[in-house]
Amino acid sequence: MTTKPIIIIPDPLLRQVSQPIERVDEDLSRLIDDMFETMYDAPGIGLAAIQVAVPRRLLVIDVAREGEPKQPLTFINPEIIHSSDARSTYEEGCLSIPDYYAEVERPAAITVRSLDREGKEQITEADGLLATCLQHEIDHLNGTLFIDHISKLKRDMVIKKFTKAAKARAGL
Ligand code: NI
Repeated sequence: MTTKPIIIIPDPLLRQVSQPIERVDEDLSRLIDDMFETMYDAPGIGLAAIQVAVPRRLLVIDVAREGEPKQPLTFINPEIIHSSDARSTYEEGCLSIPDYYAEVERPAAITVRSLDREGKEQITEADGLLATCLQHEIDHLNGTLFIDHISKLKRDMVIKKFTKAAKARAGL
């Protein structure tokens, strides 16, 4: 297992729509292992394949608290098949937007259909932090970031800051 570099905004890849996974094979299994390692190392509670520059519909999530046993969850080609009318608000962050946090309101509970890492269909009923995390990660597969759910003013400020930093890194 190896950690992979996580891309950050304004990398245009983060705006790309990821393509469905067609084969659950050894290469995919290796990618899943690497994604878990990258996520735990960061550390984070969710990671979409596009964040390690792989535009495929794949997520890894672990919302277990510190000190609790690990609860690694894999979602291949996830699809939200039900969202509750009830909504909840969490302060979200993203490994691709380091050190920025903002409150986002989303449906409080969702049902997701996906494949597990064995390629078997799984139905996940999620609420609380898992529901928020799943929606945040599924957004990534559609090129959407959590800052798209905040005010344009705040979003523009964040993007400007990261664009400036990227230019500084590139020596421009
Ligand atoms: Ni994210």
